Amino acid sequence: MSDTRAHRRFRSQEWFDNPNNPGMTALYLERYQNQEYTREELQGERPVIGIANTGSDLAPCNKIHVFLMDRIKAGIRDAGGIPMEFPVHPIQETGKRPTAALDRNLAYLGLVEVLHGYPIDGVVLTTGCDKTTPAMLMGAATVDLPAIALNGGPMLDGWWKGQRAGSGTIVWESRRLLAEGKIDYDEFISRVCASAPSLGHCNTMGTASTMNAMAEALGMSLTGNAAIPAPFRERMAMAYQTGRRIVQMVLDDLKPSDILTRAAFENAIVVNAAIGGSTNAPPHLQAIARHAGVPLDVTDWETIGFDVPLLVNMQPAGEYLGESFFRAGGVPAVMAELAKAGRLHLGAMTASGRTLAEALDGVHSADHDVICPYDTPLRPNAGFKVLSGNLFDSALMKTSVISDDFRRRFLSEPGQEGIFEARAVVFEGPEDYHDRINDPALGIDEKTILFIRGTGCVGYPGSAEVVNMQPPDALVRAGLTHLPTVGDGRQSGTSESPSILNASPEAAVGGGLAYLQTGDRVRLDLNTSRMDALVDADVWAARKAAWTPPELHHQTPWQEIYRKHVGQLAEGGCLELATAYHKVARDLPRD
Ligand code: FES
Ligand code: MG
Repeated sequence: MSDTRAHRRFRSQEWFDNPNNPGMTALYLERYQNQEYTREELQGERPVIGIANTGSDLAPCNKIHVFLMDRIKAGIRDAGGIPMEFPVHPIQETGKRPTAALDRNLAYLGLVEVLHGYPIDGVVLTTGCDKTTPAMLMGAATVDLPAIALNGGPMLDGWWKGQRAGSGTIVWESRRLLAEGKIDYDEFISRVCASAPSLGHCNTMGTASTMNAMAEALGMSLTGNAAIPAPFRERMAMAYQTGRRIVQMVLDDLKPSDILTRAAFENAIVVNAAIGGSTNAPPHLQAIARHAGVPLDVTDWETIGFDVPLLVNMQPAGEYLGESFFRAGGVPAVMAELAKAGRLHLGAMTASGRTLAEALDGVHSADHDVICPYDTPLRPNAGFKVLSGNLFDSALMKTSVISDDFRRRFLSEPGQEGIFEARAVVFEGPEDYHDRINDPALGIDEKTILFIRGTGCVGYPGSAEVVNMQPPDALVRAGLTHLPTVGDGRQSGTSESPSILNASPEAAVGGGLAYLQTGDRVRLDLNTSRMDALVDADVWAARKAAWTPPELHHQTPWQEIYRKHVGQLAEGGCLELATAYHKVARDLPRD
């Protein structure tokens, strides 16, 4: 043990060794002693390390953590700490209705209460499925106890008839094949299930792999953590090393506020573009930044990240899956390429106790087909554009929207470079979309843009991943597999659909999308980063004046609490009142 130990009084000792309050100390000791802990340990100046377990039968993407617990605890014990595992409210992307996004802030609140109210000196945050990672990092940022992230890792690669079958991506592909009549219901199910051959989170560069890469890029995990597949032996070793490391972080008092700096967030934005990361990363990073008290704006995503090239050849943007990404070097190899090109702040501190420059020393890509050199990328400008206009104050645009096909179909007139026009067809949420998409009366053709509203944080509630809408079956059969889509909801990180999404403010709170009507012309001007409905100002004003907010039907108490306090996606979709709380661990709760 380090010398620091003898001189530090840990926070947990306020519970377990407080002679000023023998009554309470005895009560804490007798109940924690009746499980595996002894008085000698609990009063022995050893830090108590919480392990926030996000895995359970209800959360299969994170279930691997149930089996990693022994290794995490062994690491903590071997380094002189006392491990105490506790459960986290489950957030299963593919299990929770109406959407797991609703529960990110709930799990966040739960974590803050546990870390503040129990005898904990540091915490291992187990992460994996999409929202588990931001929920844990948001909580750690608010509390500001030493914290380290350990993800469960992606599943093994999926295969179907000799082809890689990637999580989520195969669903979007199979939906098209079903619409074209090329596969039936049973093959649809078999194809999709083939993409999940083992424990772990999604094996594509969807939101899960993206957010775990973000945790590593921010410096909140050990170097190399994010990409290790769940069943690999390296994952067990990483669990053990993470357990060892958090004890030293407590002894050194290395806290989230030392790691989550503005420089760290700028690094994460750059990495997100280079990996072809999910459009869900901006709201989650905004949320983490706000809870950390770091200024970050949605426009930073374009300013800092737009011109970063795509380096990682992984589905949905490319062809490979998690196993290849790991073997090619994972996040450190990507960051090493970005570092050589001068794109990262290398002085940023990481959970390893080393700066980024030290952590990346000697690292390089082991397979240029999977992680490209910076100078020969898969494509340039892989970041997001941030649009504004009369339809929204901000919305994210994936650069893949602007394909050659899009230019051909939507260019407003010859010579008007970068200006596109289309006819809008508007849906009131996903049920309305499913009911009406094949209705010929809508007149959907190749020059249509599909809009969806009522799908933001307040409207849905929780903000739904529904903006990636498929064209009518007849158009898909005729070979038109994509139409541009726009919405106030989100889009699955496993979809490469051309979309403009996360429109804020959302329609349910009176954002501009609320006043759009089917048949309106809309214009996208890339020169000015604007998207507008081409509707006369007085007509627009009249629609606005006639608008009444939708009646919200809450099904649970949390839905009502959430809707009352949630902000917009552009600001991270946080519980607004929670963003005022910082470093709450400094303020001990009453005995
Ligand atoms: Fe959980 Fe993708 S659904 S990681
Ligand atoms: Mg998702």
